[in-house]
Amino acid sequence: MLQGALRHSLIGLLLITPALAAPTAEQRGKAFARANCARCHAIDRASRSPLEGAPPLRMLHRRYPIETLGEALAEGIYTGHADMPAFELNPDQIHDLLSYLKTLE
Ligand code: HEC
Repeated sequence: MLQGALRHSLIGLLLITPALAAPTAEQRGKAFARANCARCHAIDRASRSPLEGAPPLRMLHRRYPIETLGEALAEGIYTGHADMPAFELNPDQIHDLLSYLKTLE
Protein backbone atom coordinates (compact mmCIF):
# COMPACT_ATOMS: atom_id res chain seq x y z
CA MET A 1 0.00 0.00 0.00
CA LEU A 2 2.54 2.50 1.14
CA GLN A 3 4.93 1.21 -1.46
CA GLY A 4 2.37 1.78 -4.18
CA ALA A 5 1.89 5.38 -3.13
CA LEU A 6 5.61 5.91 -3.03
CA ARG A 7 6.08 4.53 -6.47
CA HIS A 8 3.34 6.76 -7.73
CA SER A 9 4.89 9.92 -6.43
CA LEU A 10 8.25 8.84 -7.78
CA ILE A 11 6.84 8.43 -11.24
CA GLY A 12 5.14 11.79 -10.90
CA LEU A 13 8.43 13.35 -9.96
CA LEU A 14 10.20 11.78 -12.91
CA LEU A 15 7.61 13.14 -15.27
CA ILE A 16 7.73 16.65 -13.89
CA THR A 17 11.44 17.14 -13.34
CA PRO A 18 12.73 17.42 -16.94
CA ALA A 19 10.17 20.10 -17.70
CA LEU A 20 11.29 22.10 -14.69
CA ALA A 21 14.99 21.51 -14.98
CA ALA A 22 15.84 22.52 -18.53
CA PRO A 23 13.88 24.82 -20.76
CA THR A 24 13.55 23.43 -24.27
CA ALA A 25 15.12 25.07 -27.29
CA GLU A 26 11.69 26.40 -28.23
CA GLN A 27 11.27 28.01 -24.83
CA ARG A 28 14.72 29.56 -24.92
CA GLY A 29 14.10 30.83 -28.43
CA LYS A 30 10.83 32.35 -27.40
CA ALA A 31 12.45 34.07 -24.44
CA PHE A 32 15.17 35.37 -26.75
CA ALA A 33 12.62 36.67 -29.23
CA ARG A 34 10.61 38.28 -26.47
CA ALA A 35 13.67 40.03 -25.13
CA ASN A 36 15.20 41.09 -28.46
CA CYS A 37 12.62 41.15 -31.21
CA ALA A 38 9.21 41.61 -29.62
CA ARG A 39 9.30 45.36 -29.30
CA CYS A 40 9.10 45.57 -33.10
CA HIS A 41 8.00 42.14 -34.35
CA ALA A 42 4.96 40.20 -33.29
CA ILE A 43 6.42 36.96 -31.96
CA ASP A 44 3.28 34.90 -31.44
CA ARG A 45 0.79 33.32 -33.78
CA ALA A 46 -1.79 36.03 -33.95
CA SER A 47 -0.91 39.54 -32.86
CA ARG A 48 0.21 42.46 -34.99
CA SER A 49 3.73 43.79 -34.90
CA PRO A 50 4.15 46.74 -32.55
CA LEU A 51 6.27 48.44 -35.22
CA GLU A 52 4.53 48.89 -38.50
CA GLY A 53 6.69 47.49 -41.28
CA ALA A 54 8.29 44.81 -39.15
CA PRO A 55 6.94 41.48 -40.39
CA PRO A 56 5.56 39.23 -37.63
CA LEU A 57 8.16 36.56 -36.97
CA ARG A 58 5.63 33.89 -37.93
CA MET A 59 5.72 35.30 -41.49
CA LEU A 60 9.46 35.02 -41.93
CA HIS A 61 9.45 31.41 -43.04
CA ARG A 62 7.22 32.36 -45.94
CA ARG A 63 9.93 34.65 -47.24
CA TYR A 64 12.87 32.53 -46.22
CA PRO A 65 13.27 28.84 -45.64
CA ILE A 66 14.11 28.54 -41.95
CA GLU A 67 17.56 27.16 -42.81
CA THR A 68 18.47 30.20 -44.93
CA LEU A 69 17.28 32.38 -42.12
CA GLY A 70 19.82 30.68 -39.89
CA GLU A 71 22.62 31.70 -42.23
CA ALA A 72 21.42 35.26 -42.32
CA LEU A 73 21.23 35.35 -38.54
CA ALA A 74 24.73 33.95 -38.23
CA GLU A 75 26.18 36.57 -40.53
CA GLY A 76 24.21 39.25 -38.81
CA ILE A 77 21.11 40.74 -40.29
CA TYR A 78 21.91 44.20 -41.48
CA THR A 79 20.22 44.53 -44.83
CA GLY A 80 16.98 46.38 -45.06
CA HIS A 81 16.94 46.95 -41.35
CA ALA A 82 17.26 50.65 -41.07
CA ASP A 83 15.07 50.59 -37.98
CA MET A 84 16.41 47.38 -36.62
CA PRO A 85 19.52 47.06 -34.53
CA ALA A 86 22.13 44.70 -36.01
CA PHE A 87 22.09 41.32 -34.37
CA GLU A 88 24.73 38.67 -34.46
CA LEU A 89 23.56 35.50 -32.86
CA ASN A 90 25.73 32.64 -31.76
CA PRO A 91 24.91 29.15 -33.06
CA ASP A 92 23.06 28.16 -29.89
CA GLN A 93 20.88 31.23 -29.99
CA ILE A 94 20.14 30.62 -33.65
CA HIS A 95 19.21 27.02 -32.99
CA ASP A 96 16.88 28.12 -30.21
CA LEU A 97 15.30 30.90 -32.20
CA LEU A 98 14.74 28.75 -35.27
CA SER A 99 13.25 26.01 -33.12
CA TYR A 100 10.81 28.54 -31.82
CA LEU A 101 10.02 29.91 -35.29
CA LYS A 102 9.21 26.40 -36.43
CA THR A 103 6.53 26.16 -33.76
CA LEU A 104 4.82 29.14 -35.40
CA GLU A 105 4.57 27.58 -38.84
C1 HEC B 1 13.83 48.18 -33.50
C2 HEC B 1 12.92 47.34 -34.22
C3 HEC B 1 13.30 45.91 -34.57
C4 HEC B 1 13.83 44.94 -33.73
C5 HEC B 1 14.19 45.06 -32.27
C6 HEC B 1 13.96 43.76 -34.54
N1 HEC B 1 13.53 44.00 -35.82
FE1 HEC B 1 13.57 42.66 -37.39
N2 HEC B 1 12.81 44.10 -38.61
C7 HEC B 1 12.44 45.37 -38.23
C8 HEC B 1 11.88 46.06 -39.38
C9 HEC B 1 11.34 47.49 -39.41
C10 HEC B 1 11.92 45.12 -40.46
C11 HEC B 1 11.48 45.35 -41.92
C12 HEC B 1 12.69 45.84 -42.66
C13 HEC B 1 12.46 45.81 -44.13
O1 HEC B 1 11.55 45.13 -44.61
O2 HEC B 1 13.24 46.48 -44.81
C14 HEC B 1 12.50 43.92 -39.94
C15 HEC B 1 12.72 42.77 -40.69
C16 HEC B 1 13.25 41.59 -40.21
C17 HEC B 1 13.51 40.42 -41.02
C18 HEC B 1 13.25 40.30 -42.51
C19 HEC B 1 14.41 40.89 -43.26
C20 HEC B 1 14.11 40.96 -44.72
O3 HEC B 1 15.05 41.27 -45.45
O4 HEC B 1 12.97 40.71 -45.13
C21 HEC B 1 14.02 39.47 -40.20
C22 HEC B 1 14.48 38.07 -40.59
C23 HEC B 1 14.05 40.04 -38.88
N3 HEC B 1 13.58 41.33 -38.92
C24 HEC B 1 14.47 39.38 -37.77
C25 HEC B 1 14.54 39.93 -36.51
C26 HEC B 1 14.94 39.20 -35.35
C27 HEC B 1 15.28 37.71 -35.33
C28 HEC B 1 14.93 40.07 -34.31
C29 HEC B 1 15.32 39.81 -32.86
C30 HEC B 1 16.61 39.18 -32.68
C31 HEC B 1 14.52 41.37 -34.83
N4 HEC B 1 14.28 41.24 -36.17
C32 HEC B 1 14.41 42.54 -34.07
C33 HEC B 1 12.58 45.96 -36.99
C34 HEC B 1 13.11 45.31 -35.88
